[in-house]
Order: sequence, then structure tokens, then C-alpha cells
Amino acid sequence: MDKILLDAKDISHSFDYKLFNSININLDSSSSLAITGRSGCGKSTLLHILSSFLKPLNGEINLLDNNLYNLKDNKIEELRRYDIGIIFQSHYLFKGMSGLENIEIASILSNETIDNKLLERLEIQDVVEQKISELSGGQQQRVSIARVLSKKPKIIFADEPTGNLDKETATLIMKVLLDYVKEYKAGLILVTHDREMASMCNYCYKLEDKELSLI
Ligand SMILES: Nc1ncnc2c1ncn2[C@@H]1O[C@H](COP(=O)(O)OP(=O)(O)OP(=O)(O)O)[C@@H](O)[C@H]1O
Ligand SMILES: [Mg+2]
Repeated sequence: MDKILLDAKDISHSFDYKLFNSININLDSSSSLAITGRSGCGKSTLLHILSSFLKPLNGEINLLDNNLYNLKDNKIEELRRYDIGIIFQSHYLFKGMSGLENIEIASILSNETIDNKLLERLEIQDVVEQKISELSGGQQQRVSIARVLSKKPKIIFADEPTGNLDKETATLIMKVLLDYVKEYKAGLILVTHDREMASMCNYCYKLEDKELSLI
């Protein structure tokens, strides 16, 4: 049976100006949801809010059965360490280490083992022994995705995971993410500029004029 992974109600946030008003969004297990919208409209900010890293000016978030703004710090740390997977716009890999070492750190911290099949599906099995600084941008991107999936998160937040990639590699990454969601009954919230990648998700939203609507 599907389970509600994320339920965000009445979320509003501003920096210098109002970014969005009263956004409602929810996600069931085994589902994926894409958020599109123009540069600067607040997509990354919304993702930071939904993934527990930024507190909105208004609103309530229930994430994996936890009310985020009633949680003790150690419980938030636990959620972030074991259950939440984040793929950032920039990779934050440890540059002096190999791809495999970067992936190992995530799997050790979350008591999981590395799935070699995942490395093969991302087509990085032959390059993971190389240092990050010796990998291409797209290879680094795939290492960062392997690192996140290796901790077996229950929900994945991905900010432009296929940005700057050729279409074939972008589609490969989307397939790996969507297969993971089905296999582990997990959830995916994806921010992307690419309408084609967005349309691979179960639900597509657009953030525009401070509102989020289904497209
Ligand atoms: N920490 C912050 N402090 C002040 N302003 C911020 C902060 N983070 C983001 N902003 C501003 O909020 C707006 C939305 O930024 P955000 O990164 O959410 O946009 P985005 O939709 O992800 O854009 P892009 O598609 O270019 O990644 C921008 O005008 C940005 O300058
Ligand atoms: Mg952004």
C-alpha cells in the first residue's frame, strides 16, 4: 500500500521579495514529482525547505511521519543521515579521494553496502577507482548520484541532476532514479528545467507567479 512520505502545507517564503505563497505538496511512496519553473523563481529554495534544511516563514511539513518543526535536533540528524537523499546542483564530492571512496563514506555512515549493479547501471564501474579530479563533469555527477542512492534513502530530493548532460546520459540518470523509487518504494522530488525529464515523473508541477500548479 502507498504511504505518504511528504506532506507540506501552506508553505510561504521570502528573501528580498516574496518567493512563493501557500504552497501545498505531497508525495506517496513509489512516486516521483517534478518541479519546473524559470531561473530564480525559488525552486532550489523550495527543495531546501521540503528536505528540512531551511525553515519557511510559514507552513507545516510532515516528512516520513515526523512533524519537522517539532523535532529534536538529533532526530533531524538521524532523518538526514539515514532517510533523506539529496542531490545538489553542485556535487560536493571529496576531490582528493576516488569515486569509490566517496561512495563508501555514504554507505558506511548509513550502514549500507555498495551495490555494484548500481555502478554498472550508471556506467561508472570502470572509472570509480580514479580520483574525482580526474573524472569528467558528467562522471562526477553520476558518482554523486551513486553516493546518494548507496545510502538507500526513503526520499530523494534532486536539484537539476541531469543539468549540463547530453540527453542519453540524462535519460540514463532519470531511469536509474525512477527505478530506485519503484524498487525501494521510495519517493523522488526533482527540480529540472528539462520538460522531457520532468514528464518522466508521475506528477509535473510548475512554480510560477509565486504559486505551484500541476501542468
Ligand atoms: N540564502 C539566500 N539569501 C538571500 N536570497 C536568496 C537566498 N537563496 C536564494 N535567494 C534568492 O531567492 C531567489 C530564488 O533562488 P533559487 O535558488 O531558489 O531559484 P531557482 O528557481 O532554484 O533558480 P535556478 O533555476 O537558477 O537554479 C533568487 O532571487 C535568489 O537570489
Ligand atoms: Mg536552483
